[in-house]
Amino acid sequence: MDKIVIEGGHPLKGVVKISGAKNAALPIIAAGLLTGGRHRLLNIPRLRDIRTIRYIMEKLGTVFQEAGDVLEVNSDNLTAHEAPYELVKTMRASILLLGPLLARLGRAKISLPGGCAIGARPINLHLKALVSMGADIYMEHGYINATAKHLKGADLFFDIPTVTGTENILMAAVTARGTTTLRNAANEPEIKDLAKMLSAMGADIEGAGTDTIVIHGVDHLTPCEHTVIPDRIEAGTFMIGAAITGGDVHVNGCRPEHLTALTEKLRQTGTEVTIEDGGIRVQGPESIESVDIKTMPFPGFATDLQAQFMALMSVAKGWSMFRETVFENRFIHVSELRRLGADIEINGNQALIKGRERLLSAPVMATDLRASASLILAGLVAEGGLTEVHRIYHLDRGYEAIEDKFNGLGAKIRREKGPVV
Ligand code: EPU
Repeated sequence: MDKIVIEGGHPLKGVVKISGAKNAALPIIAAGLLTGGRHRLLNIPRLRDIRTIRYIMEKLGTVFQEAGDVLEVNSDNLTAHEAPYELVKTMRASILLLGPLLARLGRAKISLPGGCAIGARPINLHLKALVSMGADIYMEHGYINATAKHLKGADLFFDIPTVTGTENILMAAVTARGTTTLRNAANEPEIKDLAKMLSAMGADIEGAGTDTIVIHGVDHLTPCEHTVIPDRIEAGTFMIGAAITGGDVHVNGCRPEHLTALTEKLRQTGTEVTIEDGGIRVQGPESIESVDIKTMPFPGFATDLQAQFMALMSVAKGWSMFRETVFENRFIHVSELRRLGADIEINGNQALIKGRERLLSAPVMATDLRASASLILAGLVAEGGLTEVHRIYHLDRGYEAIEDKFNGLGAKIRREKGPVV
């Protein structure tokens, strides 16, 4: 298996261009199932998760054409309605096919996503809402079998704001009969982006980006052109990279309004963060101050940046406390950061970090996508040799051309091919 090898000690300097958001592109590509005709999607990142959703949709009959970051999606002839276990187990976001398949074909068979490294991640709220909209759903042999002659609008409430749950219901409701009101909806920017695309297709949606979304079902959708928002988590990872290495990076093409919680926390560490035309400039401090972090749904501090920020706090002055409130098991990076010398204690959903003067290089193992990014950031400052990050296939799921982007900023990172095991 491939590994990434990092020589620490090189401050990041220069300009990095942020790619399209993985977590916006996935539902937006899935929404291409809702109608026939040719959708033109721009700013699609080249990532493994994107290839996975395309592959599943090709099995359903969707035809794709790709040119650079432009993806054309044509679902004129859907011939199947099943997302099989072999593919869903590699990407939980395959559940995003449930809503649009049910809306378009009146049936869907999707392998039930299992738990993953960061938590059990149930989908009960997606299913309960679809049942309230008239779907008939049962489980058999590890598959969700859903049918609905015609979905109908409903008054829905999520116990917990769920991102992909909100997206699934949005896609299911746009052509449902009547009005759907979704309360305690998630309001992440990726949801607003999906709603923008659906509206360009002719959907009637109010309130996306707030916790109450009202969707008036329409009879007919048409294909559209849509540009995906920039990836705020990729941007945040490079911002933290600039801070941890004492560098000076212009993070271009990101949306500062999607990164306010991180910006605020970075400023408290002594990092200079300047909003500029076309992006954000981040200048790392001489010495990093400790701050506490509590992950929250948007606009709070993103759980998807928690691991990366923990790498930063591992080399800060003093103590910091992290509280992970979104996922129950999202500290799996801690034992690997410890291998680099980080001083971290975990107690339930809290982690107490005592900043160290330095981290020391070591071989480490990536355990999920954002954990991988955290280990790379730690490797950028680890002293005394090379840090090797193993199992980097996680990284390729969600970061486009990551070595090129870091090396373009002056880091010394290379990918080494390893034997297939
Ligand atoms: N939850 C339930 N029942 C449900 C759905 C969710 O209890 O039916 C719980 C989850 O277990 C979790 C919380 O609600 O504790 C929030 O989970 P959510 O459903 O919002 O997460 P998700 O939709 O599965 C998306 C992103 C994740 C990101 C989270 C939180 C995509 C494809 N994935 O997941 O991204 O961490 O929202 O912001 O959009 C990543 O990119 O690395 C990643 C994990």
